[in-house]
Amino acid sequence: KNIVILISGRGSNMEAIVKACAAEGWNARIAAVISNRPGAAGLGFAEQHGIATAVVDHKAFDTREAFDTELQRAIDAHAPDLVVLAGFMRILTPGFTAHYAGRMLNIHPSLLPAFPGLHTHQAALDFGCKFAGATVHFVTAELDHGAIVAQAVVPVLDGDDEQTLAARVLQQEHLMYPRAVRWFIDGQLRIENGRVLQTAGV
Ligand code: GRF
Repeated sequence: KNIVILISGRGSNMEAIVKACAAEGWNARIAAVISNRPGAAGLGFAEQHGIATAVVDHKAFDTREAFDTELQRAIDAHAPDLVVLAGFMRILTPGFTAHYAGRMLNIHPSLLPAFPGLHTHQAALDFGCKFAGATVHFVTAELDHGAIVAQAVVPVLDGDDEQTLAARVLQQEHLMYPRAVRWFIDGQLRIENGRVLQTAGV
């Protein structure tokens, strides 16, 4: 199966998925890593691992539709079974999300439905939350609202700031996201009544 991963920056979740795919011998390959930012640090890691990379720079397009059309072309050139958003920081058009319905995952650094959007860790701290975490979900037209595949929970500790909390959550992201992607690849995810069931596999 072909996996295409979209990044915008550091790409540490992408790295975790690339490494798990190789180490666990998934029935899949990372066909490409695509970034909307030319300088995304994660592109270097992908190149070093012999993975095809591409940049579709959103700044070169006048509209979200034009950007998404070109992004879709770049993705579909790799015939993906699954598209993985890993720190991909663009809002996607409904046409784009519909095209990948049921085969595009995202990771969001909060316990959805709490704190969709940006600055999730600061929001959790400001609210006095005792727990924070991250969510893997299918992507739909509504930002950070698709069916939930997996969640990881961490405590919020006295003295935490945005950085310390983000780091604690990120450790869990690196464990959870590869696991969730593997469930998809192994045919273990089913959506029923808008909810995800994880089964023993097919
Ligand atoms: C992660 O915290 C992810 O949940 C969020 O952006 C961050 C990306 O980090 N969407 P990285 O690029 O995977 O290192």
